[in-house]
Amino acid sequence: MFKNFLNKQVNIAQPIEARKEQVKRESVPSHIAIIMDGNGRWAKKRALPRIAGHREGMKNVKKITRCASDIGVEVLTVYAFSTENWKRPKEEVDFLMRLPVDFLDTFLPELIERNVRVEMIGEPDVLPKHTQGALFEAMERTKHNTGLILNFALNYGSRDEMVRAMKAVMQKVQQGDLCIQDVDEVCLSQHMMTSHLPEPDLLIRTSGEVRLSNFMLWQLAYTEFWFTDILWPDFEEDAFLDAVQGYQKRNRRYGGLKGEETN
Ligand code: FPP
Repeated sequence: MFKNFLNKQVNIAQPIEARKEQVKRESVPSHIAIIMDGNGRWAKKRALPRIAGHREGMKNVKKITRCASDIGVEVLTVYAFSTENWKRPKEEVDFLMRLPVDFLDTFLPELIERNVRVEMIGEPDVLPKHTQGALFEAMERTKHNTGLILNFALNYGSRDEMVRAMKAVMQKVQQGDLCIQDVDEVCLSQHMMTSHLPEPDLLIRTSGEVRLSNFMLWQLAYTEFWFTDILWPDFEEDAFLDAVQGYQKRNRRYGGLKGEETN
């Protein structure tokens, strides 16, 4: 049972490989979504520029991707840049837009070797050409892979996604391709950018902030939340496995009753 919604780091001395095996013995969340927060504070604590925190954050995406792939997660969605992040100083935005290039330059061969498929949600058209180029190349080169889906939320905003979905549905109704009676939750889900993915089972937000910041609002309706004080660059395998094991102890009811209470 978890009394606090802000989970504290648990120090477990067990080696990582043994912990992964332990986690794999129970039901592993199919889809884990992460709000990777705290890069700036990580850098500030070390008197470094904010971009140093983002670089370290990028390195941590590699560690968590490996770990997620090892334990059999199907989809890992990482919130890398929101529609609101354009408001940041230009140098920081420019740096964040280079990160997918650096990440894929150095990590794509390993992703391919690990059978990982790279995908994205968000609006790619306004991303700089180099960012688009790196992502599209990675998506193309991994499109037949059948392992973990590493899904980047880039220039992503949930309200924007919902408006786009609604407009697409309305257009179909207007053109006579869809009856208004057929517009239901399933229909709307089919028009979201995640239409081909399972909904997240577990949402993790690092750095002590306890909010959703316009992230997957539609898809998180039944998701288990895990908030931690750990800053994203420090959120390594042990902390990730703590979150997964925390999830494994939860009792998901989807608005119904527990199994034993239904008799
Ligand atoms: C929020 O922390 C983090 C971001 C806006 C960017 C997240 C990006 C990464 C972790 C790297 C992504 C990697 C790839 C491969 C694209 P913040 O800067 O708001 O931290 P703060 O709240 O401490 O200032």
